[in-house]
Amino acid sequence: MALTKEKIKLLAIETSCDETAAAIVEFNQGDASTLSVVSSVVASQINLHKKYGGVFPELASRAHSQKILPVYKEALRVTSKQANRRKSTKGDSYLPPATCHLSLNDIDALAVTAGPGLIGSLIVGVEFVRGLASASNKPVIALNHLEGHIFASFINENTKIEEPTYPALALVVSGGHTLLVLLKNNLEREIIGTTVDDAAGEAFDKIARMLGLPYPGGPALSKLAESGNPGAYDFPRSMLHSGDNNFSFSGLKTSVFYKLRSLGMVDNKAEPVANAKIDDIDKVRADIAAAAQTAIVDVLVSKAIAAARQHKVRSLLVGGGVAANTLLRKKISHTAKQNNIKVHLSPVNLSTDNALSMAIAGAYHYVNGDVTSWQNIDANASLQLK
Ligand code: KG4
Ligand code: ZN
Repeated sequence: MALTKEKIKLLAIETSCDETAAAIVEFNQGDASTLSVVSSVVASQINLHKKYGGVFPELASRAHSQKILPVYKEALRVTSKQANRRKSTKGDSYLPPATCHLSLNDIDALAVTAGPGLIGSLIVGVEFVRGLASASNKPVIALNHLEGHIFASFINENTKIEEPTYPALALVVSGGHTLLVLLKNNLEREIIGTTVDDAAGEAFDKIARMLGLPYPGGPALSKLAESGNPGAYDFPRSMLHSGDNNFSFSGLKTSVFYKLRSLGMVDNKAEPVANAKIDDIDKVRADIAAAAQTAIVDVLVSKAIAAARQHKVRSLLVGGGVAANTLLRKKISHTAKQNNIKVHLSPVNLSTDNALSMAIAGAYHYVNGDVTSWQNIDANASLQLK
């Protein structure tokens, strides 16, 4: 009879866009809620893409190819926190952290983001994992990137799993997606709302670009907005009362464009005009940033709460890069509390792309028996969330 291992170690790889990431988690056989973090490594390509004002796909896949092996090796080099806490035999001082090198032999299952994302980037991660799995005969889990953004809110700031109470609603707000997903349990879900044009993160990025801010625009716009007056401009809150759970952000982007063009701050192609001569330009930029950010956040919060009430959910999950936004975190927490809905915000460092979120998703799938072999997985740029 085969011996069943008590503890499972799962390694996840994420390369769907511009972060090369690897993470290892450990959990009890049959219970993903016991998950603990062994390691999590993210190599960001932000500096590489900055000069293009966005992700340059061919450079992204080349950088993933260069980074994947060192990132994987770094994830296997585990610094033991336990060792850090051990007392030295010589006295009260503490021993330095011990570094223990895991090997592929110590890993029980592999998980990888199969899509959606940039095809050239996805292929690097998927082929890397196919190679590891075929060489070691380990089971593989092909994950949807958006599951990572949902499962990121299963872990709290102390890296402990806190499962939501069901039914739950997830607001996924990233650079490519804006979704409302109804969750019946950990793995059964239904998309009930989406954007009809731009994603929320895309709106942040495009408006930031018009304001002459660097890529990625979200964090830069939110920083500029800190010194602005959100009431200085009244930008549209599209589809606020559309009666469905869908979103639209292109009207806001156009409205900001018209405003900036009328002030001579952008040209007809929405490119920022260098040395635009208007009074108090710094204040105008900050006010526009604050007003645009508030318009995006207001729509996200109102529609998420309306859908949560309509479906009588008990928990609201918020994940994806835009979930790192301070104003969104504040407003959605406050409004959910007023409606007696428990909020699970993904930790700020797990809101943007990383492999730990994917590993958490992988652990839940592993426990559910959703594993396959390396021959059956493939990258799919337009993989749909099921
Ligand atoms: O989830 P993510 O890392 O990648 C995708 O799956 O798309 O999200 C990236 C998006 C970008 O649009 C970025 O501008 C936005 O998340 N973002 C933010 C903030 N941090 C990242 N948007 C608003 N405020 C932030 N603090
Ligand atoms: Zn993402």
